[in-house]
Parts: sequence; structure tokens; C-alpha cells
Amino acid sequence: MKVDGKPYRSIWLDADGCTVKIIDQTKLPWIFEVLALATVEQIAHAIRSMQVRGAPLIGATAAYGLAVAMRQDASTENLERAAALLGKTRPTAVNLRWAIARVFQKLLHTPKAERAEVAYAEAAAIADEDVAINRAIGEHGVRLIAAAAKTRPRVNVLTHCNAGWLATVDWGTALAPIYLAHDQGIDVHVWVDETRPRNQGAQLTAWELGKHGVPYTVLADNAGGHMMQHGMVDLVIVGADRVTRSGDVANKIGTYLKALAAKDNGVPFWVALPSSTIDWEMTDGKTQIPIEERPAEEVITVSGRTKDGSLAAVRIAPEGSAAANPAFDVTPARLVSGLITERGLCEANETGLRSLFPEHG
Ligand code: MRU
Repeated sequence: MKVDGKPYRSIWLDADGCTVKIIDQTKLPWIFEVLALATVEQIAHAIRSMQVRGAPLIGATAAYGLAVAMRQDASTENLERAAALLGKTRPTAVNLRWAIARVFQKLLHTPKAERAEVAYAEAAAIADEDVAINRAIGEHGVRLIAAAAKTRPRVNVLTHCNAGWLATVDWGTALAPIYLAHDQGIDVHVWVDETRPRNQGAQLTAWELGKHGVPYTVLADNAGGHMMQHGMVDLVIVGADRVTRSGDVANKIGTYLKALAAKDNGVPFWVALPSSTIDWEMTDGKTQIPIEERPAEEVITVSGRTKDGSLAAVRIAPEGSAAANPAFDVTPARLVSGLITERGLCEANETGLRSLFPEHG
């Protein structure tokens, strides 16, 4: 997607062909800063600290992490060490494990002297595939928005967190159908959940949509139910960090509450995901998906820009307050209207997923 007229992906290689470049997402929307990552430790830090985030982008970044590690030292011991280091950075998005396993398996069968080159090629393939997959998700998902547009002058879509191009290599998952709808001339407006505690909605989704010219309105997280009750939401589309083969969806904390409100108000609740987000081994999201617990500090402080233009974090709870910070929740399949994948739309259940991905039978 374009930033001030210049096309960007969320991850790319420097002109030297080996240093990894990313946009530091902890600084957006205030500062657009590109970071150069030259070691696997820097890449692990970027994932852990959420300089890069979003399930598909975490996977692509980890793949490049293995490539960088192989450039440093192509031994099998270093490959295992790098895979373990990257694999521990964030637990919920299954794309991380998927991408590491894909590159790792390829390298095990590659002579040491060729490992770095093969790893860079595989990471580039993962990144390029992600772009094509998200574009396909957009093309399938836009049908839902186009159908809604037939009966109303403007389609109001609510989304949670950031599942846009910043969360993937390009296009996004939940936002891809929205970008395509907008580009096709459909009047689409987005309700952007702020997404406390880290505010990915208010800070990243709002920034992305604004740069692309898509009309949006930021909502306090607690407002979504009220908006649905009053007929102001036609469709919910969210992303996912892990989807079990039974159709349960782990996504950013607060997604579950939106799904409950959508169900109660008859609002369609769709989840957009690439197939790398499906965990074919899991059947029960609530008990099986590992939920990341992040620092309490994220809950008891809020970061932003002050009137004088400087960036600041302010405390919003009394000194000494305890805070819990589960970063994701699981929306049971029964609350999901359907899944939007690169191969089309399906029901959120094993039959639906297997109909699109029969090779996982
Ligand atoms: O903690 P984050 O910001 O990495 O969480 C991201 C989300 O929950 C997104 O909604 C999800 O990864 C889908 S991204 C296409």
C-alpha cells in the first residue's frame, strides 16, 4: 500500500540483499520510522516488542530471522538456536510456528554452504505468497460488502485491532475487502475499535485507512454493542491469530465481546484469515490455544502525543494497582458467521474448512 504516494510493504530487504527493513509500528501514527535489522536477536526483539506485529507479518519476519541467522552462522546448531529464539517471541499467532517450520524443514535438507541463500529465497516466497493470499482474501470478502451495498447507500463495517497491511506483508486480511470495496467505488465506512490496551485500532488501523482515503470513525472499545443495537453496523470483519480446525477464532482481546454483541443483534460476524493461520491440530480454541499474557504496564498506562507534539505515556490507575493483560481471546465458532480465506468463503467449522483445504484431510 502507499504511504504519501510511495508504495510500501511492511517488511522488505535493504539494497544489500540481506538486512531486513521494517516500519517501527510502536512509533505509528506519530513517527514513520524504518528500522534496519541485521541480526536474529534484533529480529526476535522486533517481534517481541511489537515493532512488527499481526499474525502473518510475525510469520514472515521470523522467516527472515532464520535467513539472517544462517548468514551469521549456517550450522545446524545455530539453526536450532535461532528457531527456538524466534519461536518463543509470541505464543498465540500460529503463523510464527508455521513459518519457522517451513524454513527450518527446507534448510535441514540443504547443504550448509547454501543455507543462507535458500533461507532468504524461502522467506521472500512466504512474503510474496502472503501478498497474493491477502489480495485473494480481499477479492472474496468484497462480495460481502458489495452484497450489503445493494440495500443501503453506505456500508458500515466494524473492525477490531489492526488486521490491515501493517499486520501482514501487504493488503491485510480484514481490511483487504474494505480497501477493494473502496477502490471499486462502494461507499464503505469503518468503525474502528480503539483496541485497548495497545490501541492498534486507534493508532494503526485509523492511520492506514486515513492514508488510503477510506472514511472511518474511531470507537471506544465499549461502544460497539451500542452501535450494533442501533443498526449502525452492517457487518463485522476481524482478523485472526489462530483458527482451530473446528472454527474457533483467537484474535485480539475484545473480539469475543464484539461477536457476542453481533450475535445478539443479528449482525454478520466474519473472520478473514490466510490458511497459515489455521491450526489443523487443534479442535477446541478455549482450552487449547495459548493466550499471550503481556505486561501489566500496558494496561495501567496509555501512550500518545501531547498538545505540544511530544510523545508521552501517562498512568491511568493508582500507583500499586494490579493489572491483568491477556492479549487475545477466543471466539467460539458458533458466533462466527463465516470465514474469508484465500480460497473463498466457508462456514466456521471443520466441514467448511476441509471443503476449501481438502489436502488437510
Ligand atoms: O498483538 P497483535 O497486534 O500482534 O495482534 C494482532 C491481531 O490480533 C490481529 O487482529 C490479527 O493478528 C490478525 S492480523 C492480519
